[in-house]
Formats: sequence, structure tokens, C-alpha cells
Amino acid sequence: MSTITVNHSREHAKISKYIYGQFAEHLGRCIYEGIWVGPDSDIPNINGIRSDVVAALKAIKVPVLRWPGGCFADEYHWQDGIGPNENRKKMINTNWGGVVENNHFGTHEFFELCNQIGADAYINGNVGSGSVREMSEWVEYMTLNGVSPMADLRTQNGHEDPWQVKFFGVGNESWGCGGNMRPEYYADLFRHYQTFVRNYDGNHPVYKIAVGPSVADYNWMDVLMRNAAPYMDGISLHHYSLVSGWEPKGSATNFPEEQWYSLLENSQYMDELITKHSTIMDKYDPDKRIGLIVDEWGSWLAVEPGTNPGFLYQQNTIRDAMVAAVTLHIFQKHADRVHMANIAQMVNVLQAMILTDGQKMITTPTYDVFKMFLDHQDATAMDTLDDLAATTSASVSKQADGYFVSLCNFDVHASDDLVINFDTPIASTSSEILTATQMDAHNDFDDPNRVQIEAFDQVTLDGQSLKVTLPPMSVVTVHVKVN
Ligand code: AHR
Repeated sequence: MSTITVNHSREHAKISKYIYGQFAEHLGRCIYEGIWVGPDSDIPNINGIRSDVVAALKAIKVPVLRWPGGCFADEYHWQDGIGPNENRKKMINTNWGGVVENNHFGTHEFFELCNQIGADAYINGNVGSGSVREMSEWVEYMTLNGVSPMADLRTQNGHEDPWQVKFFGVGNESWGCGGNMRPEYYADLFRHYQTFVRNYDGNHPVYKIAVGPSVADYNWMDVLMRNAAPYMDGISLHHYSLVSGWEPKGSATNFPEEQWYSLLENSQYMDELITKHSTIMDKYDPDKRIGLIVDEWGSWLAVEPGTNPGFLYQQNTIRDAMVAAVTLHIFQKHADRVHMANIAQMVNVLQAMILTDGQKMITTPTYDVFKMFLDHQDATAMDTLDDLAATTSASVSKQADGYFVSLCNFDVHASDDLVINFDTPIASTSSEILTATQMDAHNDFDDPNRVQIEAFDQVTLDGQSLKVTLPPMSVVTVHVKVN
């Protein structure tokens, strides 16, 4: 039994559409096969980018895409990925499977992808093994409009106009794969490197993101904020949902009920992390100018049997849909501080939207949640009064014609009778559901529509209240039109 009370005057903050951002790394089959097949492929593509994947991504209105990593970013040398393919250097992807990276997907191809899916660009620069000059010249190459060595090189490579780099990350996980640094050292490096991330486009300044903490490293957050706050627009936070610590990873499909709940519990931990990190940020940034950028999140489970362990290819079930809904609700609750989030990762890696197998492509239950929640993007989160069952989570946003309510009941067995009280008469409602009867229900290449969004009719109107019966293992959305 749960109750939500909505008071029309209690608005919390705008839910940045960037909370629904994505992340695509040169890792496993995310970029190569998942996105980039090359212009000569039999798989239908435009300029080398597969069209089925683009169509699916357009339907979830990806607002921003982070690239090229992840750990890969701190070994990526952008000049290796421009110019004719035959001249592009090959390298070993030391972080992910030790495979050969041919650099066929580089800066130009990334912006082509952003253009095709309609996403803003979030470029992650190399601090770990790159120089200040290299980072500075990349920004010049991408954004300078006029005469300069890098702008000329861009023109020579077929793109006269500059691109817009909306977000720029100065390193990745500098406390780990990005250089094993101490926070004091990285804070100084951040101040140094970001100086040369120039704003060549006066109308669109680059939003600079510092490397923030891993999970609960509150000291890292404190040191970074104390030493570098004036120089940053955002600071990152990484937290992955695990079933029981880093190892062993739990199976994505073949798991006991206990691991259903432990994964969800670990996802709910995001709330505590954001609350505590945000409190530290408040000391140095009480006006909340600086965004907490959760640019890696999602479930990290065991790879599918028989696949390369370095490729992080995992299945995606109704349990992952619950993880997505619960986590997105937490971000919306903290919309005043969380300005962007990027689920890891977009295709074929970790908690993916899309899985591919040669010519075939399927969307996952996580994709469905992103699709169902579209109307939250850039809406205003309401500060509701909630009395929720332990396994229910919810979020309400204001819409032009009323409200948009998203709900999740992650109890495996019990439904939840939920009442939502408004202070305005309700004209009508429409509702959708994503649910399943098996804990590991998922789509696969033989049955791509086993789990799918359906119309939902268990919503009844009673004056200014709605009664919703939330089935077990369900995500429900309700559009509420008010008079
Ligand atoms: O998303 C996979 C990896 O997880 C990223 O490369 C890294 O930043 C993190 O540790």
C-alpha cells in the first residue's frame, strides 16, 4: 500500500533531459558492430553507421552521448582516428580484451553519429597518457571556426564547419584506470588541463567536467571541490549496481531471488551516494552551479557464457528495467544537483539499450524504460509527499496539460495498491506498463518482443485521486490530464 500526494505549487527542479544520456566506449562490440559497420557493409547503414540502431536510438531521443571512454579515453590519441582509413594507426585496446583497434571510428564518425541520432556531444579527453597540447589541439580541431592549424586540418579532412562540443570531460577515473592518481594531484592536473580547453565558440561555451569520485570516496569529492571548484562546471560520479561486490559477478539471467533484491538494493544506494556527495558540494557550491554528472551507472553482471570476458556483453532482463526505473527516479529526486547521467553503455556492453548479432538487432527492457520515461525530459520534477512501500519507487513531473507519473514495483510476488492524491480535478488518464512473470524475462534474437510495453488499464479515477494497482515486477507510467 503506497500513497503519493501532489501539491501543484511544490515544484522541485527542472529534470535535465541530459539525465537520460548515453555512453558509448571503444569496448567490445559497442562501437564496432554495434554502431559502426563501415560504408561497405551488407548491414544497411548511412556513412558506415547502422541504420537499425540509429532508428531505435532516435525513438528514445538520446539527448547526449559520451565518447570515446571510459578507461579507453585515457589511452586514446585522437590524431590516430582522423584522415583516410588506410593511414589510421592500429593500436591494442589494452583495457578491453586486448583486441586491435583500427581507429576507423574517430572524431568525424562520432559527430556523424551524434548528427544522425540528434544527440549533443560529450567528449572525454585524455589526461592519463595524453599531453595538455594534445587535448588543447583536439578542442581546437573540433570547435575553432577560422584559420588555425587544427581548423585547417579538419577542413583538409572534409569538414570545414566546426562542430559543437557541448560537454568535455578532463580525464576519466583518474583515481584508477585513468592514472591511479591521488585527489590533490588530479585537482592540480584538472586546473592545468582545463585551462587549455578553450571556448572558441563564444556562443556555446564548453561545459567542463572534472573526474569525480568512485562510489563513496567522499574525500576525493572534498579535495576536488576545495581545490578546483571555480574551474569546473560539473564533476562526475561513477557507481555500478552489483549483486554482491565486484567479484563474483552474478549472472544476468540465471539468478536466485536473493540476487534480484541485492541488485536492486545496490541500485538504491545511489540515493545515499548523491545525497552525501551533494552535501559536500554544497559546502563549496551552495547555489548548486556545479552539476553532479553520473556519467557511468547501470548493472554490471557476468558476461554471457562463451563471450570474451573483456567485452562485457551481458543480457538485459526485466530486473534491469527495475534498476533503470529506480535509478532514474533517484536522479529526478536530485534534479537540482544531478545535471547529467549516462547509462553504461548504449549498445552490446553492460546495461545496454540495444543488442546486436550480425544483421539482427533487439531492444532491451532497459530501452523500454527510457522510452516510457520520455516525457520527464526537461519537465519539472514535483516535490511530492510520499509514503511508499519498500519496493515501490515513483516520480512525478509537471506537464503542460497536467502531470506525468512513473512508478516501479520491484516486489517479485506482491502487487502494490497505490493512491495518488492531486489538489486539482483530473480530466483523464492514459497508462502503459512494462512487466513480466519471470524474474529473468528478456528479449533475444529468437524472440525479440517477449518483454514489451503494453497499454495498462489498472488505473481508476476517484475525484482528485487515482488508484493504481501495480503488479509485481512492473514499471508503469500514467499521463494525468487535469481540468
Ligand atoms: O563502462 C566500463 C568501464 O567502467 C569504463 O571504461 C570505466 O570508466 C569504468 O570503470
